[in-house]
Amino acid sequence: MTAADAPDLEHFLADLFADPPLVHDRPDGSRTHVWHTEPACYRLMAGLVSRGARTLETGCGVSTAMFAGLGTEHTAVFASQEEADALLSWCARRGVSTDRLTLRLQFSSVALPTLTGPFDLFFIDGAHSFPAPILDWFYGGQLLVKGGVLVVDDAQLPAVALLLEFLDADPRWEPVAGDDKWRAYRRLSEGSLVEEWVRQSFWRSPRRPSLGERALGRARRTFGRRSLPEIQLPSP
Ligand SMILES: C[S@@+](CC[C@H](N)C(=O)[O-])C[C@H]1O[C@@H](n2cnc3c(N)ncnc32)[C@H](O)[C@@H]1O
Repeated sequence: MTAADAPDLEHFLADLFADPPLVHDRPDGSRTHVWHTEPACYRLMAGLVSRGARTLETGCGVSTAMFAGLGTEHTAVFASQEEADALLSWCARRGVSTDRLTLRLQFSSVALPTLTGPFDLFFIDGAHSFPAPILDWFYGGQLLVKGGVLVVDDAQLPAVALLLEFLDADPRWEPVAGDDKWRAYRRLSEGSLVEEWVRQSFWRSPRRPSLGERALGRARRTFGRRSLPEIQLPSP
């Protein structure tokens, strides 16, 4: 991967942020919104890839339009025909070529295990519920080349935070950039991510549930969840 030409890149991103593809719907059903991450995250990704780089993402939005505009060999995995239609209309209106764009309209847990790769950059920003980001990393991350970059959005959400806790401990994922909202890591290994726990001795102290959480877990196992709505956890 090489850095894209800086002045052109800034111009390209300013245009994209000023008129992003509104692919997501509002509660009233109107497609007039786009969930997005921070400009710095897009700037980092855009600077890392050039035309022809192999990029993969879960989810659809500004990022998908950005990779299409940059001319990467891009695969976006998300399960919404409406989002795909809105994205393709935006590309047509803006004259952005979709020749190198592949849209896989499936849940990522279904599509990613069938992909072959390899990829130079992988952006995880699809489903954010447990264990989706971890599955995305497991199936998509193994397709990243050695030296490829993994970018993860929404670090503040619990399922994403679990993944990041592991990545921060694993020396094979070198932190590159990020903040409280998103993180980027360079992959220093290659191939499958399947391994036994004994190979993960770096991950010695995962967050232990507090005493209160453990007590609540025991009570739920004993009495069932519905009989305990009034229990309040003590502050940590
Ligand atoms: C936060 S938005 C993505 C924003 C986008 N990356 C951007 O930069 O604007 C989340 C996306 O994840 C998609 N999504 C939700 N569940 C998914 C799943 N199980 N597999 C793949 N994509 C999913 C949604 O359709 C939506 O496009």
